[in-house]
Amino acid sequence: MSRQRKTVVSVVGARPQFIKLAPLAPVLDQRFRHRIIHSGQHYDYELSQAFFGQLRIPAPDIKLKVGSGSHGRQTGQILERSETALIKMKPDMVLVYGDTNTTLAAALAAAKLHLPVGHVEAGLRSFRVDMPEEINRTLTDHLSALLFYPTAAARDNLRREGITRGLTASGDLMYELLASVRPSLPEYAAVLNHFGLEKEKYILVTMHRVENADDPDRLRLFIDIARSIKEPILFLAHPRTIGNLRRHKLLGKLRAVPNLILGRPQPYFETLALAGHARAIMTDSGGLQKEACFLGRPCLTLRPETEWVETVTSGANTLVDLSPAKIHRALRRPPQRRARLSAAVGGRLPSRLITAAIERYLRR
Ligand code: UD1
Repeated sequence: MSRQRKTVVSVVGARPQFIKLAPLAPVLDQRFRHRIIHSGQHYDYELSQAFFGQLRIPAPDIKLKVGSGSHGRQTGQILERSETALIKMKPDMVLVYGDTNTTLAAALAAAKLHLPVGHVEAGLRSFRVDMPEEINRTLTDHLSALLFYPTAAARDNLRREGITRGLTASGDLMYELLASVRPSLPEYAAVLNHFGLEKEKYILVTMHRVENADDPDRLRLFIDIARSIKEPILFLAHPRTIGNLRRHKLLGKLRAVPNLILGRPQPYFETLALAGHARAIMTDSGGLQKEACFLGRPCLTLRPETEWVETVTSGANTLVDLSPAKIHRALRRPPQRRARLSAAVGGRLPSRLITAAIERYLRR
């Protein structure tokens, strides 16, 4: 029986991909020989191993160890090394997740080997071609045989680009994971004490997108905004942001903001506990925008647009960019409505829907 099982390989490399893989891996394991390639795009303990450990994701079968680099170099190295790995593994299908350099590079390697690609979180668009993520997800969608789209807007984007075959309404694996762990979140509330925070009396901030983190003018603006907010801010800073603050000699200025606590990226459960008790969340992360809405916390998105348009139209999220006026207005009257979001589509969980669609495809 097990000899007849098809081989499905997941290629992951960055934090949000580990989160999507976590609820899917055990279900894939029941139906296929599921193997994991880790590109090494994220390698710090906080951004990688912490997630594998906490979310009980099976250890990667192959590590490509590419590390950081320019987009071309990182993408090129993942392309080359994942090709070698895929030739060795001979999978029946390759799954890629989201929109990072790992996503595009692995999809390209697989497509060139004539291996069918399944794209988890297909169809999202910011309509900003200057975003590396927009390039990665658009090209990946056009390379994919199976496209698992999480929202109606994502489906419409795909259709508009002429992609009409291989589509599955999968719902959102991030919601599935969050819904399943939610009962255990109170155990992690102690992390608030670690940062000296009180429930509902702080603002949780993350900011790591290239558009924000690599632009010294926007970093300066962010520091000024943080200073002007007269309540505790917990800023969980990504290494990219810290590196740029240091490079532009702005780290000292940030540390000098009296109401700001600078913290390192936190593991999954701790981040959710901090998000769940924040008065508001300010972020440029796609994942945290959704998690904020799912936890019923007001979200202010530090971008002029979002791929997750439903979070805005449902009233749970406000696009404030780095506009001091918009941020102060939104903090005075934070978005209140809970987004009515559900992990399931037609009563079925994303992990099951995705696995069933792959089975159908491989049975053809
Ligand atoms: C990547 C994704 C982004 C996603 C984010 C999640 C791309 C183009 N971007 O951005 O869409 O939202 O992951 O976190 O793929 N670094 C470390 N340790 C690490 C990893 C990175 O110090 O473990 C530092 C390095 O200085 C590196 C920089 O962060 O140069 C950026 O890392 P990179 O993986 O290129 O992109 P992210 O900003 O993490």
